[in-house]
Amino acid sequence: MVEKISEVEEIIKILNEDFVRELEATMIYVRNAFIMDQCDPSRVTEDIAVDEMRHMNWLADLIVKRGGKPRMVHKELDFGGEDLKSQLEWQIALETEGIESYKQQIDAIDDAEVVGVLKHIVDEEKRHRKEFSMRLERIKE
Ligand SMILES: [Fe+2]
Ligand SMILES: [Fe+2]
Repeated sequence: MVEKISEVEEIIKILNEDFVRELEATMIYVRNAFIMDQCDPSRVTEDIAVDEMRHMNWLADLIVKRGGKPRMVHKELDFGGEDLKSQLEWQIALETEGIESYKQQIDAIDDAEVVGVLKHIVDEEKRHRKEFSMRLERIKE
């Protein structure tokens, strides 16, 4: 059997990587919601930005409880292009990246509280991906 990750420092490091990804998603979605010229995808993107900020809060809570501090250092943001289609495609890709990372972590981490929160987050990311995909399908019609 593969050994699970139980060392607290290692768990804090992983949670901080998640935290930064949520921070980046929050900022990208807030910005794109203003840029999008169609009302419905813009509103959906804005609502989902709020979900991503809640994910930041949940992760920060787990980090602080374990003696860490949330990192606010993010990479240069990629907003996914100038038109609605490319922005939605990029947002779908970001959700997929998050889902894949969270799934791996859920399997690897030996901390019931952390795994519980990550499972909740991954369910929401799947819903986000579906919401963005529906908007993408609509503009292709
Ligand atoms: Fe998220
Ligand atoms: Fe999401």
